[in-house]
Parts: sequence; structure tokens; C-alpha cells
Amino acid sequence: MFSHDLPLWPVQGSSGAGNVDWLFIFLLAVTGFFTLLVFALLAWFAVRYRAKPGDNRPATQIEGSYVLEATWTLIPFGFFMVMFVWGALIYVNESRPPANSMEIYAVGKQWMWKFQHPEGVREINTLHVPVGRDVRMTMISQDVIHSFFVPAFRIKQDVLPGRYTSTWFHAIRPGTYHLFCAEYCGTQHSGMIGQVVVMEPAAYETWLMGGTGEGTMASTGQKLFQELGCSNCHRSDTQGRGPNLVGVFGKPVLLDDGRTVAADDNYVRESILSPGSKVVAGFQPIMPTFQGIVSEEQLLSLIAYVKSLSQPEQREPVSNRPAVPGRAATSGTK
Ligand code: CUA
Repeated sequence: MFSHDLPLWPVQGSSGAGNVDWLFIFLLAVTGFFTLLVFALLAWFAVRYRAKPGDNRPATQIEGSYVLEATWTLIPFGFFMVMFVWGALIYVNESRPPANSMEIYAVGKQWMWKFQHPEGVREINTLHVPVGRDVRMTMISQDVIHSFFVPAFRIKQDVLPGRYTSTWFHAIRPGTYHLFCAEYCGTQHSGMIGQVVVMEPAAYETWLMGGTGEGTMASTGQKLFQELGCSNCHRSDTQGRGPNLVGVFGKPVLLDDGRTVAADDNYVRESILSPGSKVVAGFQPIMPTFQGIVSEEQLLSLIAYVKSLSQPEQREPVSNRPAVPGRAATSGTK
């Protein structure tokens, strides 16, 4: 709402941007008010209590006032608690992608952003997304720490080597927005920039159709799963030397040391690269590591495949609207 008139703010491009701006305005108003108050009082006291000829002060010594002390402690405390709770709510909301978010995978490297859509399209430094959808970003770096920063969406999330981090957004207006790396990552850090292109759902689907060719990430992962020999042990029955992976993703897994962990992206990644660290109960630690054998992109494809084994039906089409042209046309003529 401020963005259109004031050049001070980037455009509010996401559903969460307004909340962040209101918090920022609140911080600015509170700190601005007290800064002005302090400076005004400073000037006023300097004039009011300036030394005058014949003065012989202090007449009475002031020993302090508990009421005053309590007041100037509790009022700032109240303001800080409001800032803390408000900020924490926004933070928690931004770090928890809604269920059924559409997924985008990102790999940061010196000095570029590589994006993968589950449908198989890959892009570099430009990310296309549909307007009006929750989009969850699952991100990792293949070298140093980077940070995924889209000012218009008011999101900034560090992208770490060795571990997936995620963030999400819900773009509210089509357009092209800046993407920055917000963590100093080497000599070309300032050149690690790109753009997020927010498109109407129909245009996004058309764009997506034009880009595929290698198949979905899950099918690429399935191919790898066979090529790397994973399928020899991880069979879809109970006879394999490794756990059957069907239906595993997203569920708790009991380990041989009694712990229970959630089978999420980071768990699958660790199981591929460091199989001995979390062995599933009832199995031998015989799996070899794939450290140095599979790239970050291949790992993401393998994860997409494992994920697909837990989805009974085909993944939903790119938007919630009917993907079949005939049905889309019918609903459009109503
Ligand atoms: Cu990547 Cu700075």
C-alpha cells in the first residue's frame, strides 16, 4: 500500500510483505518518536537549566524516584515485548511453508542460482513462478554460504552447504522482481543476482510445457536410482537388503539405536551421503556412501523420486485449476 507512492519500500509482491512492512513502520515510529523526544528534551533542559548569574545550585539534592525508575523500565519493556512477539510471529510464519505448497529446488554456487522445477525444467538466475500459489523453496549450496533474498517478497533465507533450508512465499502480483545473494560469498558475490518472474497461472503452465524435455525430477531420480544400483537393495517388497522406500517419506523412521527421526529432505540426503549415521532398525549398515558421486542436483532428483514413492497418485498439476484444456474451457464459459 505504501509501495505505490513511496519509493522507500520495494513493491509488496507477496502475501507476507504487508505484515513485514507494518512491523517495520512500527519500529520506525517508536524509535523515531523516542529519538525526537530525547533530542527535544536535551535542547529544552539545556536552555531551561542553563547557568545564570547568581545561581547557587543545587538547592536540594534529588535522591531518585522508584516510580520514575519503574516507569522508564516498564514502558520500554512493553514496547520491546510487542516488537519481539510481532517479529517472532512473522518469523515463524515465514519459516513454515503451508501444506500443499508447490515446490521449487534451488542450488546456490559461486556465483549463480540454479533452479529446478519438479516438472523437470531447470533455469539459472531466473525463476519463474505462478501468481497466487504458495511456493516452497528447498535450497542448498554446493560450496559456501549464500543467501536467497527477494526484497519484494520480504524473504531472506541463508543457503547452506550440506543442509537443506527452506522458505516460502505467495506472490500476489505478476511482474519481475530482483533476486539477490545476501551473504558475502566471494569476489563475484555482487554479481550473484537474478530475477523472479511471477506469471499468471495459465502463462506459467504454457511456459512450463515449453521447457520440459528430460522428464520430471522424480523420473530423473528414478533413472539415477537404477543406474547407481540403489534399486538392487531398496526393493519395493520386503526382500531387499535395504529398507523398502515406498511410503517412507514424511513419516517417522525407527532407527537401530532406538531413536525416531522424520524422513524429510535432510534425512534422505544424509542417508545417501552418510548411510552409517542413521541406520533403520532391522537393517545392517552395509550401504556404501555416495559422497562425491552424486551432485547436489542429482541428490535433489533422488529425493524427489523417494518423495514420489509416498504419493499415491500423480503429483497435482502445476496449478490447482484443472489442467485439462477441455475442463478449463468449460469452467471458463460458466
Ligand atoms: Cu552468493 Cu553472495
